[in-house]
Amino acid sequence: MEFILKHTTPETARGACQIITVSQPRKLSASGSRVDKASKGFLAALLKRGDMEGKTGQTLLLPAVPGLAVQRVLLVGCGKESEMNERVYTRVINSIATALAASGARDAEFYPSDIRLKGRDLAWKIRHAALTLGNSDYRFEQMKSGKPEKHKGLQKLAFIIARSDAAKARSAIDEASAISAGMSLARDLGNLPANVCTPSYIARQATQLAKGAKKLQVKVLDEAAMKRLKMGSLLSVSAGSRQPAKLITIEYRGAAAKQQPIVLVGKGVTFDTGGISLKPGAAMDEMKFDMCGAASVLGTLKAVSQLQLPINVVGVVPATENMPDGLATKPGDIVTSMSGQTIEILNTDAEGRLILCDALTYAGKFKPRCVIDIATLTGAVIVALGKIPSGVMGNNRALINDLIKCGEQIEDKIWELPLWDEYQDQLKSKVADMANIGGRDAGTITAACFLSRFTRDYKWAHLDIAGTAWKSGDDKGATGRPVPLLTQYILNQVKK
Ligand code: BES
Ligand code: MN
Ligand code: ZN
Repeated sequence: MEFILKHTTPETARGACQIITVSQPRKLSASGSRVDKASKGFLAALLKRGDMEGKTGQTLLLPAVPGLAVQRVLLVGCGKESEMNERVYTRVINSIATALAASGARDAEFYPSDIRLKGRDLAWKIRHAALTLGNSDYRFEQMKSGKPEKHKGLQKLAFIIARSDAAKARSAIDEASAISAGMSLARDLGNLPANVCTPSYIARQATQLAKGAKKLQVKVLDEAAMKRLKMGSLLSVSAGSRQPAKLITIEYRGAAAKQQPIVLVGKGVTFDTGGISLKPGAAMDEMKFDMCGAASVLGTLKAVSQLQLPINVVGVVPATENMPDGLATKPGDIVTSMSGQTIEILNTDAEGRLILCDALTYAGKFKPRCVIDIATLTGAVIVALGKIPSGVMGNNRALINDLIKCGEQIEDKIWELPLWDEYQDQLKSKVADMANIGGRDAGTITAACFLSRFTRDYKWAHLDIAGTAWKSGDDKGATGRPVPLLTQYILNQVKK
């Protein structure tokens, strides 16, 4: 999808389609009224006849409106003006995409200033529209044989704005395009099956990403190197797998070498069978998505690199499968993590924290200004929060608050759970420094408690994305979240 800016007047539009918003009841937007005049009241008459109420998402495509040079006018309903909000706006944009997909129009003009959205400026409206359309344009067709189907629908959207808003609008489009590109990468990696998307595959994709991007550098550690670093916890997860584990580091250097980097650590379990603590069979295929944290790290670095942001960011991705096997880790096994702390593995299905703890210790080597880990860590987060927000916990109030704000800013929401000390007791082990599970209660929090024991040296936040990284059911697939949130956070750090 291509986005451009234009400064033309509505009555002189001449392309394939002009999008005019109508709010309830039957009220034309400012641009709509001007177009109506040019068409000698054609639109107003049509509203009066009751053909377009203006309900949210309602659309009416009008070919060859008299008096207008444009080929079509698409009327789209926005609901009551007083009820316009972010979700309604998203629905409006999506219904534009749906209506145009069923038409012959490949390009269209849109007037973002016509929609009043409380607390959101023009740049937000443009960025959000571009992001929504970019996302709805995504297809995953790599695994189908034969030629990919030709895309119908909108290919180019012009935002019609005042000249004085051009600079803001331009960066809104650039940000949306970069975030879209990052989300597409994350979604592709997530959607690929585990027989293709192995740890080595992710490592190759990271290398690919860095090719041609001067500020990106990739380093891949193999199991021997991880052994030398004493990553006994991470290696206990890969022990049962024929696919070798990889520890992938992607460094983006956009600022002076002495500037401390933001470090992103993403869980990269390319398939989670549960190991010897084998998962039940139902929907186990969805455990190919257990590397979506890793995918979001690659996606975010792609966005940062496309925007050439003046900041340092490091991505750390521990990538492995979790498989049952003769050499697999068994419940009751005790391992020593890179930090020196010992772990009694009571459930091999709590593997995410086992790879993250060593990656988090490793992250300390970069002298980070903060570390954010992203992981499809617990089913319990879905019980607690559903699939709307990701869960967030951490050891630094300002960092958590900043992240929550970023989530609201870009509509990729997160919600905090309490990481209180009291919960730490649930991880007690009789025989080791800690157990890797904390019992049935508060599973998302005890998982974060486990991680907190490896993040004492820096500001840290943990995102549990088990409920938000992919969708199940009819539209099963990776969502690309939380690439928007992470990119927004980095953008805000740049502006600071
Ligand atoms: N990858 C899963 C978490 C998960 C489960 C995400 C279902 C999305 C849907 C993780 O490795 C896991 O298995 N967690 C266990 C932890 C438990 C053994 C303490 C879980 O959530 O059941
Ligand atoms: Mn698991
Ligand atoms: Zn897992």
